[in-house]
Formats: sequence, structure tokens, C-alpha cells
Amino acid sequence: MRYITVALTKGRLANQTLDLFGRIGVSAEGIMSPDSRKLIFTDEKMGIRFFMAKGPDVPTYVAYGAADIGVVGRDTILEEGRKIYEVLDLGYGACRMCICGPPSAKEALSSGDQIRVATKYPNIAKDYFLNKKHQTVEIIKMNGSIELAPIVGLSEVICDIVETGTTLKENGLTVLEEVCPLSARVVVNQVSMKMKNERITRIITALKEAL
Ligand code: PRP
Repeated sequence: MRYITVALTKGRLANQTLDLFGRIGVSAEGIMSPDSRKLIFTDEKMGIRFFMAKGPDVPTYVAYGAADIGVVGRDTILEEGRKIYEVLDLGYGACRMCICGPPSAKEALSSGDQIRVATKYPNIAKDYFLNKKHQTVEIIKMNGSIELAPIVGLSEVICDIVETGTTLKENGLTVLEEVCPLSARVVVNQVSMKMKNERITRIITALKEAL
């Protein structure tokens, strides 16, 4: 039997995703072991194999068919823009993509002035400002600790994920506009959906029931 290959996102979503797969009877023992350098884990009984990857690589594996199924945040799906099917909202990892900054940036944001937007998500930011707001902005791609940008004067605002709001609060920043809600999603390769439909549907249905 050919395996169904599943790409999971390392980091914040990992624990809840592994719990969820555990609840549908998949054992991926050792996958989270800090000492292990092993990259891929197989449940022979279920015919499923798993690997953990960095978020932005999950849609890539799925788009190319190297993984049939992926679990990844909607932020990453939107940012990567790959041709994949999004089939299930898992609900966890819930947060919002927002435009944030110091309260004083509100005016610059609504004035239509050319402002600078620091972000880890340049495609989401571009789509929001150009296609939705019809506003020309300069987008500055960063790799983390985005909240620093308006504090040190790199940009007027940021486009970033807000979960509890603690990071913003502790740095004197606030949500100025909301871009979209986010959460963990299941994605499927378009060819796998046709060729392995029965097995994939069974997995998706089981996940839905286990939520
Ligand atoms: C994310 C995000 C915010 C923070 C939001 O960063 O970019 O900085 O979490 O969470 P909060 O609203 O609960 O404070 P992450 O910790 O993933 O690290 P990063 O700065 O490297 O992106």
C-alpha cells in the first residue's frame, strides 16, 4: 500500500496537531523527541507517514505532491499562494492578521500618505493595501520581532499576527486595522484529492469528528 504523506508545521501548532492525529488513532511516536534527528515517521498500520517542516515549506511540499496532506496556518497559506485545496478549519491557533502601530500612526494610515509597512508577510500586506484599500505603501520584509520596526523608526506600521495582544501592549502599540482572521487549516494536494480520494476523505472526516 502506498503511504499517505502528511506534512505538519513545526512550532506553535505542533502539539495540538499531534494530539489531534493521536485522537484519530495515528501514532507518530518519537516525532517530538528533542534528541531525535529523525525526520520522517511512519504508522505502518494506518499507512500514513509524517514529517515536520517549517511553516512556509508545508504548502510547497503539498503543492508539489511530496505530501498529500498538510497542516499549516492560514497566514502561511495566504502568504505562499500555492495551488492547493484548503479543506478544513481546525479552529486552533486562532489569531488575527492586523495592521498595528503606535496610536499616533492612525492618522498617517488613513491620510493616504505613502507609509512604510514592516512585515514577515509581504504578499498579504501587498494584497491588503493595494487590492483592498487601494493605497500605495512601501513594504519592508522582515523575519521576526516585527514590533520593533515602528519603535525604532523603520516603519510607521506593521502587518503582523496578533494572538493575545500582549506583545503589542508591552511595546506601546495597538491594533489599527484588522486584515483577516487566522487559524490552523488542513490542505490537500490537488492530484492526491482525485487519485487517493477515498483515503484522504476518510482522514479528513476522522479529523473533523475528533475536533
Ligand atoms: C508572533 C507575532 C507577534 C506575537 C503575537 O510572533 O509575530 O509578535 O506572536 O502574539 P501575542 O499577541 O500573543 O503577543 P512569534 O512569537 O511567532 O515570533 P516572531 O517575532 O519571530 O515572529
